Amino acid sequence: MNINVIISPCGLEELYFINKTVVVIDVLRASNTIINALQNGAKEIIPVAAVEFAVKVSGGMFGGQTLLGGERNTKKIEGFALGNSPLEYTDSVVEGKTIVFYTTNGTPAIVKAKFSEYLIICSFANISAVAKILIKKKKDFEILCAGRNNTLSLEDIICTGYLIDEITNGKKNIPLTDSAKASLTLYKTIGKNIKKFLSETDHGKLLINNGFDEDVVFCSQVNSSEVVPVFSNNSLKLS
Ligand code: MLT
Repeated sequence: MNINVIISPCGLEELYFINKTVVVIDVLRASNTIINALQNGAKEIIPVAAVEFAVKVSGGMFGGQTLLGGERNTKKIEGFALGNSPLEYTDSVVEGKTIVFYTTNGTPAIVKAKFSEYLIICSFANISAVAKILIKKKKDFEILCAGRNNTLSLEDIICTGYLIDEITNGKKNIPLTDSAKASLTLYKTIGKNIKKFLSETDHGKLLINNGFDEDVVFCSQVNSSEVVPVFSNNSLKLS
């Protein structure tokens, strides 16, 4: 099992992902919103790479059973039913619904990796459940961090390091690329108090300034869910 980390999807071709096992991480906040929506009974999440596409896709679907969700500059998009706060995706709102979902960095990263052989979503919330699946698979895999504005984001890298730590569990014989080693080292150095470091990241600070303090706390929960969203036939569903 070889582990590679891609710190941002910027510059990557979609075809790079063919035949690969890929884990997409966007801690703040797309991964957590997707996990929570499925946990609370959403039928599926359709990630899209552009707002215009979200509107087009939802236009051709059943009204009432489909909701548009997502954000621009952290805020709910005009005309959308939901923003990108995981706390909005309660069971009374999402149960049985298809959610067409757009976020600035998270959903474009997922869409870019759509040709992967196996594509799953991870955050601190489901890290052990994801680790279990990858250990069982015994295959090479890549962790694709959504990053932010075409560069890395610390929260995605630390979550990546945590996942690698869970999987390698101190074993030295699992080959890690430089980016995988760097993620593991960063996690071990500054990743222990997740709630504190998340609130001090660039994105964490922006969310807090925009009034989303509760989301930052929610996204710092570790192993609060067994849900592992799997991408198949253009949508994310329960595994
Ligand atoms: C993203 O995809 O960039 C984030 O989920 C943005 C956000 O926190 O709303």
